[in-house]
Amino acid sequence: MEDFLDINEKEKEEDIRPRILLVDDDKFDRTFIIDLLAPENFLIDEAENGNEALALLSENKYDLLLSDIYMPGITGLEMIQKIREVDANLQIIMFTGHADLATAIEAVQLGVYDYIVKPFDPEALIWRVEKALEKSRQISLDLDVRVDLEERVSAQSERIRLIFYEAVQTLVNAIEAKDQYTKGHSIRVTQYAMWYARHSDISFEEASDIQLAARLHDIGKLGIADAILNKTGALTDEEYSIIKEHPETSYKILKPIMSDSILETIRYHHERWDGKGYPDGLAGDLIPQGARIVGLADSFDAMTSFRSYKKAMTLDKAIEEIERCAGTQFDPNIVPGFVEAARLNREQEELLTTVG
Ligand SMILES: [Fe+2]
Repeated sequence: MEDFLDINEKEKEEDIRPRILLVDDDKFDRTFIIDLLAPENFLIDEAENGNEALALLSENKYDLLLSDIYMPGITGLEMIQKIREVDANLQIIMFTGHADLATAIEAVQLGVYDYIVKPFDPEALIWRVEKALEKSRQISLDLDVRVDLEERVSAQSERIRLIFYEAVQTLVNAIEAKDQYTKGHSIRVTQYAMWYARHSDISFEEASDIQLAARLHDIGKLGIADAILNKTGALTDEEYSIIKEHPETSYKILKPIMSDSILETIRYHHERWDGKGYPDGLAGDLIPQGARIVGLADSFDAMTSFRSYKKAMTLDKAIEEIERCAGTQFDPNIVPGFVEAARLNREQEELLTTVG
């Protein structure tokens, strides 16, 4: 007996016939519809009321729901409201003994496919059931195609992102090769910005954006002549104004492929807390947080690196300088965390050196 049941269950699982759920408290109507649809090779389950139907719907996948509107307990429309909370695509045909415009409108608003007034016209009922099942097939086909398409787009986007990232690394290397003193600058700025990010409550997504922005922030320097970039003497006003264009050039280069968050961090990495920076002279919290962090990391690298025109500052001296400029050049809320992260990093490095 058990074996027989198992086989039956298995057959049911593999059955590809359209599956219909029929809900009506009137046994006579249910029998009438089942007899009418029997030659059409559908699988039909029955329920006497809305709650019984909801239980069946939670366990099985149906292609069509045929339901009476007025039943004891929850009405057909109340049942559909509950169904729509979890399934927007189930095709539904409702029927009623009383034509009522308000109910018909409500049914349409709930996405009911068809609304039939009793008594049933047998041929019309079969025709409308088949139309609804066709719609159901179409929707599941569309859904399958969409899922497949989304998967392919996502795989393609990942490939493009990787190719792009490699191209960007090449570009960054190209910029840094233009100036021997800034070699490794972007990598160090990224490293310093991440010191801070790890010590703050910045989310993983925000930190990832800041990381990429830090890596690319000076990409606009590609457009600046080597003679200006590598100049050891003081810059003329005109040369300085050319240098000041690089955040916007970076922004324009990356605009077609980067998110707004990354673009804003790059565009505003030379703004100052007191509003005296460039390109827009934004002040305080109006400067995106990522830009305030990358800007600080950028200055920290400039202070602690050797340049043709200056020696590298010691870490303590750079920290002193950063703290002096908190509230003027730098965000005073970021400085303490950054300094703490920088000191912690030095301790770890010293520890590694000692152990090594
Ligand atoms: Fe810059």
